[in-house]
Amino acid sequence: MAPDVESIATKLRQQLAAGLADDGWLRTPGWRAAVEGVPRHEFVRCFYRETDAPGLTTWTPVTAGIVGVEEWLRQAYADETLVTQFDGQEIDWSDPRPIQGAHPTSSSTLPALVVHMLEELQVHDGMSVMEVGTGTGYSAALMCHRLGPERVTSVETDPDVAARARAALGRCGYAPRLIVGDGMAGAPGGAPYDRTIATCGVRHVPCTWVRQTRSGGLVLATLRGWMRSLGLVRLTVDREGCAEGRFIDGDASFMIARQQDAPGNLGVIPAPDDGTPRSTRYGPDTLTTAGSGFMAQLAMPGARFFSMPADDGTPCTYVLDATDASFAVLTPKGDDAWNVRQGGPVALWDMLENALDTWRAADSPMPTEFGVTVTEKSQWAWLGAPDGPSWRLPTTSPSGVRGQPRGAVRTPAR
Ligand SMILES: C[S@@+](CC[C@H](N)C(=O)[O-])C[C@H]1O[C@@H](n2cnc3c(N)ncnc32)[C@H](O)[C@@H]1O
Repeated sequence: MAPDVESIATKLRQQLAAGLADDGWLRTPGWRAAVEGVPRHEFVRCFYRETDAPGLTTWTPVTAGIVGVEEWLRQAYADETLVTQFDGQEIDWSDPRPIQGAHPTSSSTLPALVVHMLEELQVHDGMSVMEVGTGTGYSAALMCHRLGPERVTSVETDPDVAARARAALGRCGYAPRLIVGDGMAGAPGGAPYDRTIATCGVRHVPCTWVRQTRSGGLVLATLRGWMRSLGLVRLTVDREGCAEGRFIDGDASFMIARQQDAPGNLGVIPAPDDGTPRSTRYGPDTLTTAGSGFMAQLAMPGARFFSMPADDGTPCTYVLDATDASFAVLTPKGDDAWNVRQGGPVALWDMLENALDTWRAADSPMPTEFGVTVTEKSQWAWLGAPDGPSWRLPTTSPSGVRGQPRGAVRTPAR
């Protein structure tokens, strides 16, 4: 007898909702009803899951045909990110193969993160929402359930991804306003919105989103850089068209908006005698440890790093900014001491040390002690208060070059 998809899926949805509520993500009846009501499996008929095997990351395809209906449904309702596209290329689902070394470019995000963001969006009945990053359409469907499709606008940059989302939403009986285009421009036709939410990461908050959100409305987005995610910020738009707010607790990370992705090349590796050497008390682990890594991302917004032995075998960590060819090269000097060689227009390691000194002087605060201010002219992250120590967010894109960041340590993208 064929498995009864609807009754299995209904039970799995209830279990997913109960788990998200137990973990504290799902807090309000409206969003709980949405998670219990929206059939996620319609949005992830075919997807890839990361396998745990050591070595190069391997992704395995999952469909009802490959793993069986019941296992497909079980995975579709797992609290996991389900990847639906790599490297901007559609997958040939007539013959799906395991994939290695590819870069996810679209997914149905981890439900815990989706729900966390929706709860933090603080919606009320009758509000309108603009979402940037339709992806599979699952989060748009949750918003349709909660607010009504006529109050939901969603923008997706990839036409193939958008077409799949439109079809899945249609199967569920939802017809929100779906726009294919660069979400950095927002969706002016339906503005002003009460809420704007981005489910792709951004290096800065586009002013268009602030302009298209009504005064008193909220913009919720994940700020990230090319080294790591900074986290989720919630900004309130004021009457002057500026927006301000703090980082929210939690470990939010999204794949970066395609138009803000890093240049494909990491930059030119400096020769062994390039740059000005000095000693430093901060080593490479500064870049990978949570709090100091957050400061590194703020202090060096165009940088990425990787470690590789020099020709003579000396372990080197290269910090390169491909946007202006600045560099810093770290080499061990002895017990917990390092040499740094810097060159190019910006002394990257000086910037990092200054930021870390400020952070340490303030007792190494958590990201929730930081906030962001967005004005038409500039935007910056601040510590403590808008007039406190601050770091400019990069508001220009790298000279039209699009590519995938390679070689740098990265937080997992949802
Ligand atoms: C993590 S997925 C979105 C998850 C989705 N909300 C869901 O629940 O299924 C991020 C999506 O953002 C899209 N994206 C990237 N850059 C974009 C941009 N500039 N404008 C609109 N969408 C963008 C990607 O193509 C991808 O589909």
